[in-house]
Amino acid sequence: MTLEKDILQQVAAASEEAALEAIRVATLGKKGSISEQMKLLGAMSPDERKVAGAALNVLKDKVADAIAARKGVLQEAQLEQRLASEKIDVTLPARAEPRGTVHPVSQVWEEVVQIFGDLGFAVAEGPHIEDDFHNFTALNIPQEHPARQEHDTFYFNEKPDGSRMVLRTHTSPVQIRTMLSSKPPIRIIAPGRTFRCDSDMTHTPMFNQIEGLVIDETSHMGHLKWILAEFCKSFFEVDDVKMRFRSSHFPFTEPSMEVDINCSWEGGQVKIGQGSSWLEILGSGMVHPNVIKAGGLDPAKYQGFAWGLGLDRIAMLKYGIPDLRAFFEADLRWLRHYGFKALSVPTLPGGLS
Ligand code: DAH
Repeated sequence: MTLEKDILQQVAAASEEAALEAIRVATLGKKGSISEQMKLLGAMSPDERKVAGAALNVLKDKVADAIAARKGVLQEAQLEQRLASEKIDVTLPARAEPRGTVHPVSQVWEEVVQIFGDLGFAVAEGPHIEDDFHNFTALNIPQEHPARQEHDTFYFNEKPDGSRMVLRTHTSPVQIRTMLSSKPPIRIIAPGRTFRCDSDMTHTPMFNQIEGLVIDETSHMGHLKWILAEFCKSFFEVDDVKMRFRSSHFPFTEPSMEVDINCSWEGGQVKIGQGSSWLEILGSGMVHPNVIKAGGLDPAKYQGFAWGLGLDRIAMLKYGIPDLRAFFEADLRWLRHYGFKALSVPTLPGGLS
């Protein structure tokens, strides 16, 4: 019995197949311990041999079974280990890091929407291909007005009735569309593409503007100035921004002003809030009564203000990008340098940039 216990303990302790095989040879093999016992049976009396022989046969079977069972356990453990070490997670993304970036124009677009959204403005839209009425006439720019030439307009071919569609030269037509389709109080911004036949370091044939429009019964220039100053502080993430309000002229506003922002261009880098240069970022003013009328509203009752902001301009200023043309060249190296992480969405509480 101690022999049995001894062997079964050894089997249970074996940690690899080679050790099991050694135990089998040492017990059941020709010169194994059990085989040696068998040899002693010949010298026994028939009765003794019967009892001892039966017991040895039982022991032989037990040991063989124990070895086979242990072998199964070891093989299974080995398989588990191999599967674990060769595991491939097919749900992992094929590329470790997303390589695309958010274009500075998209980033700034979202930042501006966040800021004005917080101030209670909704986002409005209009088509890129506009008719003459919305792009010019309704904005108090009649047929022979010189502003039509100043806009370097891209015209489409004449229609049979002599009219021509245009690529909108500014986002201001969205003012008209909004007034015609909604009731005051109106507080909207309209970000979008605009088109003019012009190209240099700060002008491209396609560029982006953000229109703003407030129409109600009481809003005045003081509100306009406050909103623009608040916007600039929020957008440039500073406590104070030097702004210059210059009186100007637009057919669709009276009075009108242009707003410049203080910057420096030293070393080919543009920096905001320092130096002695100014960059024009927007035009604004009180909406002209003729425009309110064209929008289907009574100028004796309603008043308000509007502005048109150069989206690419403020992106250049904020992120120190010297040449506007690079925005639209789709140069991947440029995008990797100036682009933003895809998942860092700008929010006011979380930070805009
Ligand atoms: N539409 C003008 C432009 O493209 C910008 C502008 C000026 C828009 C004054 C306005 C405004 O809404 O009030 O140059």
